[in-house]
Amino acid sequence: MPTHLTQSRLMDRPDGYGPVSRILHWLMAALLAWQFASAAARQFAPDTPIEDFFWFSHTSLGLLLLVLVLARGAWALANAGRRPDSGLLAGLGHLVLYLLMMAIPTLGLLRAYGRGRGYSAFGIQVFPPRDREIESLVELANAWHGLLGWTLIALAAGHVCMAFLHRRADGRRVLSYMTKGQ
Ligand code: HEM
Repeated sequence: MPTHLTQSRLMDRPDGYGPVSRILHWLMAALLAWQFASAAARQFAPDTPIEDFFWFSHTSLGLLLLVLVLARGAWALANAGRRPDSGLLAGLGHLVLYLLMMAIPTLGLLRAYGRGRGYSAFGIQVFPPRDREIESLVELANAWHGLLGWTLIALAAGHVCMAFLHRRADGRRVLSYMTKGQ
């Protein structure tokens, strides 16, 4: 990598995350919170104005979240070795969060494709309608999309708790790596 980029202030350092990582993290946290609100509205308040209010954005926002997590994964790889060391357990936890954030929207898209009714995100057509359903795709996604979605919310709640509880050697919360960037 060119030196001007490796020394860039945009990148992460062992004593804190840089601005790109922090923006991606908090943007995705906010969008995921909205995404979970829409899933909860669908599950617990079907056919009500609450579902209408939250659900309309679910399938479009899901694609945006997939694009963002891929960008974030690429940025994480570019910063490998320079990020704060959060330990083996937290590292594994973060890896599982990434894998779920990739698998869940992918399954949603596979279902949309399998159903063959066409799919648009933010008004832009992604798949045109076809005349046939691909049952195996729809069944796969029906079995896993919601289940993994609820698993992600549980792990994200655990992740928030650990960010408050986990402290570094100097006694400060690891949370400040991601808030203040140091
Ligand atoms: C990170 C992104 C996503 C998360 C966290 C997520 C989460 C969830 C969850 C937890 C449910 C279960 C709601 C219930 O139990 O009724 C759900 C349902 C659903 N999701 Fe997603 N989703 C995401 C992306 C997508 C995408 C990209 C699509 C489509 C392109 C999609 C389409 C759907 C549909 C159609 C349902 C309702 C299924 C049904 O009525 O049985 N989701 N989602």
